[in-house]
Amino acid sequence: MLTSRRLETPVERPRRLRRTAALRALVRETRLHPEMFIYPIFVRPGRRMREPIPSMPGQERLSVDLLAGEAEALRGLGVKAVLLFGLPEEKDGTGSGAYDDEGIIQRGVRALRAADPELLIMTDVCLCEYTTHGHCGIVADGAVDNDATLDVLARTAVSQAAAGADVVAPSAMMDGQVGAIRAALDEAALSGVAIMGYSAKHASAFFGPFREAAGSAPQFGDRRGYQMDPANAREAEREIALDLAEGADVVMVKPALAYLDVIHRVRPHVPVPLAAYNVSGEYAMVKAAAAQGWLDERLGALEILTAIVRAGADLIITYHAKEAAQWLAT
Ligand code: PBG
Ligand code: ZN
Repeated sequence: MLTSRRLETPVERPRRLRRTAALRALVRETRLHPEMFIYPIFVRPGRRMREPIPSMPGQERLSVDLLAGEAEALRGLGVKAVLLFGLPEEKDGTGSGAYDDEGIIQRGVRALRAADPELLIMTDVCLCEYTTHGHCGIVADGAVDNDATLDVLARTAVSQAAAGADVVAPSAMMDGQVGAIRAALDEAALSGVAIMGYSAKHASAFFGPFREAAGSAPQFGDRRGYQMDPANAREAEREIALDLAEGADVVMVKPALAYLDVIHRVRPHVPVPLAAYNVSGEYAMVKAAAAQGWLDERLGALEILTAIVRAGADLIITYHAKEAAQWLAT
């Protein structure tokens, strides 16, 4: 009787360190901090325009004149980095709005820089928001021409960097895009501007809300000819190795939540900071479920962000940045 009771008594009691909030905080293995968040902003034409994005509750397209106020709000929350996406006045076949020195992103960068010299400003380098066909590159004979696109991406990055971007982030998934941009920046005496490559960007259904927000859905076909197959993780290693060889300062896995294994897998091979993009569809899912009362948004969003860091990400691009910063402060 006595011996069998002894056998049932656990020797190891992990629950001891879960007993109080202070103990749990003391032994927590993964921590979130607002300084690891990058907040995406959609910049639109017009004045005093604050246009809600229906598929992304809480997110808005902002006109350039409202960016100073946004910078102030971010500073107050302790969010120190933004990633800009532009909705141009006009689109054309070659996406020339992307490299217009008076383009929407360029004006947005200058407004933010003037408002807050310390804000870390990143810009998305792609053509899909600027082309009438909505593809991420130059289309020739119904297909995206990789090498013709490189020149345009490089020109775009130089124009954004000249406007004051700290980091340019090519997302077009063209082969050689990081190398082409690095060479062009260096040639333009912008060697101090960093490149964050969207290195392992998968062709994902979770970009859906973003395409509505940015008006960048492809008008024919899809992006599977240039973005990665969601089934591939070894290929992510290859894409990241190529971007590192081409001079990327930061590499990225995108999306994040359905690709935690990819983040974890590439981490040991990435000596530079590793970013993860907690994309629009991941945000929209949490918002939609929370709106139904089906889950607690604060706990759910922080759990996802924690998981992304636990998997191995150093930085997270997230639409939840402002709310998460607030939650972490209280
Ligand atoms: C443009 C771009 C996309 C995203 C970032 N840059 C969309 C796409 O490739 O279709 C997705 C971001 C998100 O879903 O939050 N190349
Ligand atoms: Zn694109």
